[in-house]
Amino acid sequence: MYRLSDGYSRKIDYLRVSVTDRCNLRCSYCMPPQGIKLHHKDKLLTLEETKRAVAILSDMGISKVRLTGGEPLLRENILILAEGIKNIEKIEDISLTTNGMLLKKYAKNLYRLGIRRLNISIDSLNQEKYRTITRGSRLDSVLQAVDDSIGMGFGPIKINTVITPLFDLEDAARFMNMAESMPVHIRFIEMMPVPGTNNIECSINTAPSSPPGIAIRDIISFMNPLGYKPLEEQLGFGPAVYYKKEGDKGSIGFIENRRDTCSYCNRIRLTCRGTLKTCLFSSEELDIKKDLQNSDDAAVQEKIAAFIKSKPLDRDCSSRGRPHLFESMNRIGG
Ligand code: GTP
Ligand code: 5AD
Ligand code: SF4
Repeated sequence: MYRLSDGYSRKIDYLRVSVTDRCNLRCSYCMPPQGIKLHHKDKLLTLEETKRAVAILSDMGISKVRLTGGEPLLRENILILAEGIKNIEKIEDISLTTNGMLLKKYAKNLYRLGIRRLNISIDSLNQEKYRTITRGSRLDSVLQAVDDSIGMGFGPIKINTVITPLFDLEDAARFMNMAESMPVHIRFIEMMPVPGTNNIECSINTAPSSPPGIAIRDIISFMNPLGYKPLEEQLGFGPAVYYKKEGDKGSIGFIENRRDTCSYCNRIRLTCRGTLKTCLFSSEELDIKKDLQNSDDAAVQEKIAAFIKSKPLDRDCSSRGRPHLFESMNRIGG
């Protein structure tokens, strides 16, 4: 049996599965207002193919799966897929990253299936800014979803907050208050440049003439005098680092576009069209859709194992210049 490790002896045990490229929001840093050209339905992995891919990978050492999108709850029969993955013997943890809009409809069943770890995107706690960033969505819907999820017993619940140029220290303070009174873990995420996304937001931190906005270091300076201490327990399996002050129910984390987290990167990605990616920032993909239809497990495993060996050392793999994403997150799954 394979034990997945890459060419630098990193153990690979975490698979992120992007189940659809569709989304019901239009976050300005992710999509143009009209949306993007979506993959045709018959180019997508079927539920059976997706389950088979996860099962094959679980035999190679994958034990944790995160469902992402686009918006994963838009995928037809997402519950059937989640249940199928849950029932794969070697999968120990299954989690979901969502924009929260459809949580009301699905939360009960997701909980019944044993999903506990939810990451929910909220880029501002100011209604007007949230509406602007998402191009029209309502903050109260997602806040209600967070409340309901806490009430139902989900946890840990993490809030993904991308630092857009609209973000200021008042926004940071609102999130800090949220983490004070609610058991949620805020993650301030440095926006990653997505070429071809024609909006001003994406130029933050990438061009010398960046538009106004604050950076993660400004939030850290703001927090410094307030008594935050690094969190001792490990929260999840990702690149975030967390801080907390005494008495807070939740914590504050940061996900920076830096390469020092690459040395312990444990993840690979399966896209909705059946390709594997070994790094968010790499343009290399391995197409396994046909193999999932025609080849036996051993043949698929051999191909995957060879591909994983080529996982780049760090995010500079892509660079001519600053690392960037080759396509929008809604296609890669964050
Ligand atoms: P858990 O630790 O399981 O909670 O996963 P996570 O924090 O990776 O989950 P999530 O899907 O919510 O991703 C949050 C953000 O992390 C995404 O928006 C990405 O911007 C960023 N991210 C995800 N994977 C990587 C990665 O490999 N490298 C870097 N730098 N950022 C990543
Ligand atoms: N940079 C950083 N994070 C992004 N996300 C989407 N696009 C980007 C980007 N360009 C985040 C979303 C969501 C997660 C899956 O990815 O906000 O929380
Ligand atoms: Fe949808 Fe996520 Fe992209 Fe926003 S960032 S448009 S929620 S895929």
